[in-house]
Amino acid sequence: MIIAIDGPAASGKGTLARRLAAHFGVPHLDTGVLYRAVGLSVLRQGGDPADADAAVATANHITPNDLSDPVLRSDDAAQAASVVAAIPAVRQALQDFQRDFAHQPSGAVMDGRDIGTVIAPDADAKIFVTASVEVRARRRWSELQHADYAPTLDEVLDDMRRRDARDSGRTVSPLRPADDALILDTDDLDPDEVFARALAHVEKTAKP
Ligand code: CDP
Repeated sequence: MIIAIDGPAASGKGTLARRLAAHFGVPHLDTGVLYRAVGLSVLRQGGDPADADAAVATANHITPNDLSDPVLRSDDAAQAASVVAAIPAVRQALQDFQRDFAHQPSGAVMDGRDIGTVIAPDADAKIFVTASVEVRARRRWSELQHADYAPTLDEVLDDMRRRDARDSGRTVSPLRPADDALILDTDDLDPDEVFARALAHVEKTAKP
């Protein structure tokens, strides 16, 4: 059983993906970490994430060790991720790993931007989790209050708008719901309600 969860930043897709994976006892992959690892690694080499050659060379050498660095959660890594993610050859370089993960015998839950549309269009259940940019920025801002450098709400909102525009406006694999995805707007839903609705959808559409 493959469950594909897509949506913009801070929509709640990661929380939902982890809960569904725990519920069904299947592995989970946060695919954003792959793009963050490429973006961060280019930055650390002193390179420009928009430089396609540098980004592709890095994407070809990403290993599981590169995926657990806490700095991957930083906003610099997020912005660099969305720049490298718009380069078609970077997406291509990361595709086999994601497709293999989706199609392992145990099944999988994956979250990202193009899981239901490109990586696993054959997924048994697809969910698109979204929320207004103001609500998402406020959620990310409260998460960041514990960070060494806590940005203002306006800074988080600006960064999120820039990233949304890049992710939705790119020509390759833009952020959009699959035609057969359940759309969950989480502006007025708490995590338990999101989980309950998603679970009902999975139980209806997937054949475990
Ligand atoms: O956690 P958050 O939603 O803020 O971001 P993320 O899921 O870690 O993704 C970081 C960036 O990677 C996104 O802004 C996208 O540009 C890119 N990404 C993508 O293009 N495709 C994916 N399947 C996952 C992430």
